Amino acid sequence: MNIGFVAAEVAPYSKAGGLADVAGSLPQAISAYVSEVHVFTPLYGVIDAQKHNIVMSGIVGTVRLGEFDVPYSVDQINASKNGVKIWFIKSEKYFSRNGIYTEANGEGYEDNNQRFIFFQLVMLDLLIREKFKINVLHCNDHHTGLLPSLIKAVGLKIRTVFTIHNFLYQGHFSNVDRQLLPEGLYPFLTKTQWDNYSALLEGVDHADIVNTVSPGYAQELLDGNDLDEHSLSRIRSASKRFSGIINGIDMETWNPSSDSYTPFHFSIDSLAGKAENKQALLKMTGLDSDINAPVLGSISRLVENKGFLLILEVLDEFVAQGAKFIFLGSGDPGIAKQLQSASQKHPGRIAFDNGYNEPLAHLIESGCDMFLMPSRFEPCGLNQLYSLRYGTIPIVNKTGGLGDTVQNWKLNSGTGFVFEPYSAEMLRDALARALTTFKNKKEWATLVRSAMLQNYSWDQSAKKYIELYQS
Ligand code: ADP
Ligand code: GLC
Repeated sequence: MNIGFVAAEVAPYSKAGGLADVAGSLPQAISAYVSEVHVFTPLYGVIDAQKHNIVMSGIVGTVRLGEFDVPYSVDQINASKNGVKIWFIKSEKYFSRNGIYTEANGEGYEDNNQRFIFFQLVMLDLLIREKFKINVLHCNDHHTGLLPSLIKAVGLKIRTVFTIHNFLYQGHFSNVDRQLLPEGLYPFLTKTQWDNYSALLEGVDHADIVNTVSPGYAQELLDGNDLDEHSLSRIRSASKRFSGIINGIDMETWNPSSDSYTPFHFSIDSLAGKAENKQALLKMTGLDSDINAPVLGSISRLVENKGFLLILEVLDEFVAQGAKFIFLGSGDPGIAKQLQSASQKHPGRIAFDNGYNEPLAHLIESGCDMFLMPSRFEPCGLNQLYSLRYGTIPIVNKTGGLGDTVQNWKLNSGTGFVFEPYSAEMLRDALARALTTFKNKKEWATLVRSAMLQNYSWDQSAKKYIELYQS
């Protein structure tokens, strides 16, 4: 069985969020069970071809996009990485600019629909021309949501899996965008109630198998939490083909005993390095150096659903109780502004790095005592998984993957602090429980140990994907 894995971001080449982490690590995990795994992704300007040893493959082609013929070529990484071949779709017109989805100021590119329709038509072209022998094409999120129906429309004998990483991002496109597809290739498209199309729902309708990234989120979607009637009826129509598989993590990149961004390595049997990382982190972020006070970290896209409204509501009172906070994130300028003023109001107690910073993200996981992730909804979430492995106790809302992966600490058992329902009051309650437990050094050490013993490697979940492919 040969698997093709298509994603708009793949770590470590391009990354805006967790999709990249999954696209970078899941294909490696499945490669142990199948003949060939090929990953396909755009070659954005931001990708350093020289550093990653990306070279021309010799494959070139042209796709028809509306009235225009648009050329493309395919680059590749010279060697296969852990059994996976990575292929980059190159286009001067659509992918040579630096951003993945947005300008440097965070504004989405106006032609994003065109860019990803183009990407999918290139994929279709490569499959029609049999440049790759693929049995199952694993598509991810709305940027690849049209592929299952396009593959059906041209009669290719390739099976499709469609993974929803986040239902919120539907990839809505208009009738004008639809006309970019060659006539005859869109017989199946269904209009939404807003008189447009949803690339995500097209994937849901037409893939042979649909899944999302945790059982909890799968259930929430089927229950219709937060969904409009139209989306709900389409996801429910897929219910017999729909399941949830929890994400795993890249055990090499996120390993406290070898993390290349972490100055002091540590493990469950030797935690001294964690305290040294805490000191290094306090120094680096300009926070008061008192090592005994709890430090809470957050690494996140700055969007409403990550729970910032709740955090901002309770921040002052926990600072007053001696806690320190480090926020790393980019996104919504409004949220950034509020975090900025919180850090100015409490110098030495709250630090905010407004940007995307991989080394700092690793140091936050290594050096913090707790990780704050009170998302309103969370399909899976990866940072709580990294946090468990780094003994950085997660504080989470019981939703989606967060509810599936963090067990509330009670009677000396559990892995973090879980609250529900989603409210500032319940976050306050969870934070209070966390800070009280932190004061009891012995109990805290038991909790840290329990968190670090969790295993969220890809092993189990990769086998579940193999079962999907085989079915
Ligand atoms: P989502 O995909 O919804 O953003 P996840 O928790 O699944 O949430 O994944 C987020 C990923 O992006 C994690 O690997 C996290 O460390 C990383 N990340 C998010 N924001 C930043 C940032 N500002 N700097 C560095 N890494 C970030
Ligand atoms: C999405 C979700 C996140 C998930 C990630 C990887 O970005 O928001 O919860 O962990 O995809 O599947």
